[in-house]
Amino acid sequence: MFERRLQSKLSALTFHGMKINADVYEYFSLPVISTGRSFAYYRKIFFGNRSQREVLERLEGKRIVDVGCGLTPYVSDSMFQICRKHGIDFFGVDPKFADGLRLRPLDVAKIRAVGGRGKISAQAPGLEKCVGVHADELPFDDGSVDLILSNFLLYAWIQDETSLANIYREFHRVLNASGEVRIYPAPDLDMDRSRNSDLREVMKKFDITQRFSVRWLNLAKYPPAYMMTMKKKQVLTT
Ligand SMILES: C[S@@+](CC[C@H](N)C(=O)[O-])C[C@H]1O[C@@H](n2cnc3c(N)ncnc32)[C@H](O)[C@@H]1O
Repeated sequence: MFERRLQSKLSALTFHGMKINADVYEYFSLPVISTGRSFAYYRKIFFGNRSQREVLERLEGKRIVDVGCGLTPYVSDSMFQICRKHGIDFFGVDPKFADGLRLRPLDVAKIRAVGGRGKISAQAPGLEKCVGVHADELPFDDGSVDLILSNFLLYAWIQDETSLANIYREFHRVLNASGEVRIYPAPDLDMDRSRNSDLREVMKKFDITQRFSVRWLNLAKYPPAYMMTMKKKQVLTT
């Protein structure tokens, strides 16, 4: 119980800092920072640090969408590129692609700073699977997606509850019956109840679990926060 409360307080601190950061960016009308984390990072956060082979086996035949994928498609050791190489139907969504996202020298530094070690190329293969839209307007058919991942976007940058409600409604629409969403970093939703009725309504359509995660030696990459899994609730038909 004490441990749970401590974790919850630590994650509240994390999101307090992130809110200040997001507010400053909004005040100066700055775009959200784009980064390009590696598959090794995504495996740690979203797949319990399972091996690359195991994760790829589990994803075979599935459609995965990385919402707010940033620069990952340009980096050879990203989940986008490794899934592409193994024939997995993996899409990257980021509104910046609509404006023709270009790699600049600073982007290379940002990719390296968050641990992307692979080759970085503006002409990386598979870029046709980069979709330049916002998270609440996904161009996928109803029930056509198995898994949505979102790293360092929801809660970290998008905190407005009306926006979150619109995004979760869209996630619910595109996910198939056994589909799920994994989000990191997320606050403790048990302690941080939403005041927005639309958000509460859409959240009821998911079974939500949260796992606390932190790496004290690397707080910038792995701050105290939760990895949240949202499984679409089964609709019982009689
Ligand atoms: C901090 S980066 C994270 C990139 C990548 N997921 C990673 O872990 O390295 C967040 C990305 O979300 C994108 N973004 C901002 N608003 C968005 C929205 N409404 N829908 C989808 N992506 C968005 C930004 O352009 C940015 O590239």
